[in-house]
Amino acid sequence: MSNPDPGAKESTQPQSRGKRYLFLLILGFVLGMIATVMGMRALQARQDPFPDALMHVQGWHMDQLDAALKANKCSPDVALPHLQALRMTANNLEDAFPSSRDDERFRNAAAAMRAAADKAISAPPLSCPALGATMKSIGESCGGCHRDFRD
Ligand code: HEC
Repeated sequence: MSNPDPGAKESTQPQSRGKRYLFLLILGFVLGMIATVMGMRALQARQDPFPDALMHVQGWHMDQLDAALKANKCSPDVALPHLQALRMTANNLEDAFPSSRDDERFRNAAAAMRAAADKAISAPPLSCPALGATMKSIGESCGGCHRDFRD
């Protein structure tokens, strides 16, 4: 291909080089962003989802009990399954937080939650005021651990 105006080539060259640098700069940014996102994903994937999952399940059962109380539906057949679920999941507290399990305060707080749930199951609340009192004592056992171990 022949250039009809060889002089024009020289005048466009610096401009196209500038564009190329700009393109490389943008490409660098984009690749950097992709690498950052991938790195963050990898870090996130390494994080154990179990502790948060366990806490959210316990929170969900407490919310269900709270809703039952507010709806004035406090019969044992409504409350007991949630109390049992709280008791069972309380068995997993030490496994969910392995870095705290050797701390005596943590062990005591976990045992206190199991004791509160045991008490609630052995004498299930039969009325809304009784369910309210049960929830207060279980809730206090949650708070007893969170006070020291939840940041
Ligand atoms: C023996 C200790 C312990 C007991 C008992 C305990 N928790 Fe937790 N909980 C923790 C710790 C530790 C965290 C902070 C977790 C974290 O940041 O990863 C936490 C966090 C939470 C969270 C926030 C989770 C999140 O991802 O933001 C909720 C909700 C929760 N707990 C609910 C409860 C409920 C409801 C109870 C009682 C029925 C309870 N917990 C009892 C130790 C405990």
